[in-house]
Amino acid sequence: MKENIAVIGGGQMGSQIAALAAMAGYKTSLYDENKDNLDYRYKFVEENIKNLIDKKIYNKNKLDAYKQNLELNYSLENVIKDKTFIIEAVVEKYEVKLEIFQKISNILDEKVVMATNSSFIQASEISKHCNYPERFINMHFFYPPIRMDLIEISHPENVSEDTLKRTKTVSENMGRSVVVLKKETPGFIVNRMLAALVDEAYELYDEGIADFKDIDLAIKKGLNHPLGPFELSDYSGLDIHYYAKLKKFRESGDPKDEPKDFLKEKVVRGDLGVKTGKGFYEYLED
Ligand SMILES: NC(=O)c1ccc[n+]([C@@H]2O[C@H](COP(=O)([O-])OP(=O)(O)OC[C@H]3O[C@@H](n4cnc5c(N)ncnc54)[C@H](O)[C@@H]3O)[C@@H](O)[C@H]2O)c1
Repeated sequence: MKENIAVIGGGQMGSQIAALAAMAGYKTSLYDENKDNLDYRYKFVEENIKNLIDKKIYNKNKLDAYKQNLELNYSLENVIKDKTFIIEAVVEKYEVKLEIFQKISNILDEKVVMATNSSFIQASEISKHCNYPERFINMHFFYPPIRMDLIEISHPENVSEDTLKRTKTVSENMGRSVVVLKKETPGFIVNRMLAALVDEAYELYDEGIADFKDIDLAIKKGLNHPLGPFELSDYSGLDIHYYAKLKKFRESGDPKDEPKDFLKEKVVRGDLGVKTGKGFYEYLED
């Protein structure tokens, strides 16, 4: 089946997920409630693709496919028209995602796949409040999606075979390695393991045992990781870490899960990492 794809949310993830879909040959529409952000991201991803072509990582056809197959859309109602496959990548807030899916699952027909790229929210937490729960699935990409070769697929127990099969096909056609989880779990495989590392790094920093730069250096040199936990947090976005932690804390009530004050302060100030130019580190525009 030739899917028509809509990506809802055109931030750092959604803009590149839409690019991956377009470069794989799918007609794709990308929507964000913030028009300026969407226009900026479109150009930003175009520059990234050109850069990858210069480095001979992509061939030139990718840029043509990006331009030919991807259209920007400025209305939620319009972006889902005639679509067969939806990928949601808006801000990591449960209420926002739920509102979108409740709205669109009332309009879309029963064959449309509804995937979320959420890092921590399970598809079943959303699907149980929506029409066609068997059409919901987690399709978890990694930043930056146009470079990172993995999609984790996770699904509620009652997912339809058709939904799972088509999600795997789209993921593979995007040229990505795919893992399918047997059961839902917050954070899937990678973020669940990564959370343990980042939590411990934040704990060390909070206890004043070492500066965040030294913790990053220790992990890079001692464990041969390409990025330290604070650099990685900056790349994924400090808001993602904050909201994920807040969700866990609200569910468990365990003080260990409460987001650290230094993290909350940065999120409140809008220092969200690379995407805002400042997080733990500062990033100069080039
Ligand atoms: N950043 C990562 O490394 C990463 C990796 C995997 C998955 N994710 C997930 O991807 C999702 C998006 O993360 P991001 O890093 O792209 O964040 P981002 O802040 O860059 O983008 C979020 C976008 O959502 C838009 N938005 C907010 N409310 C909206 C609404 N009601 N309708 C339409 N658009 C709306 C914002 O304007 C913004 O452009 C989150 O669920 C996150 O957990 C992030």
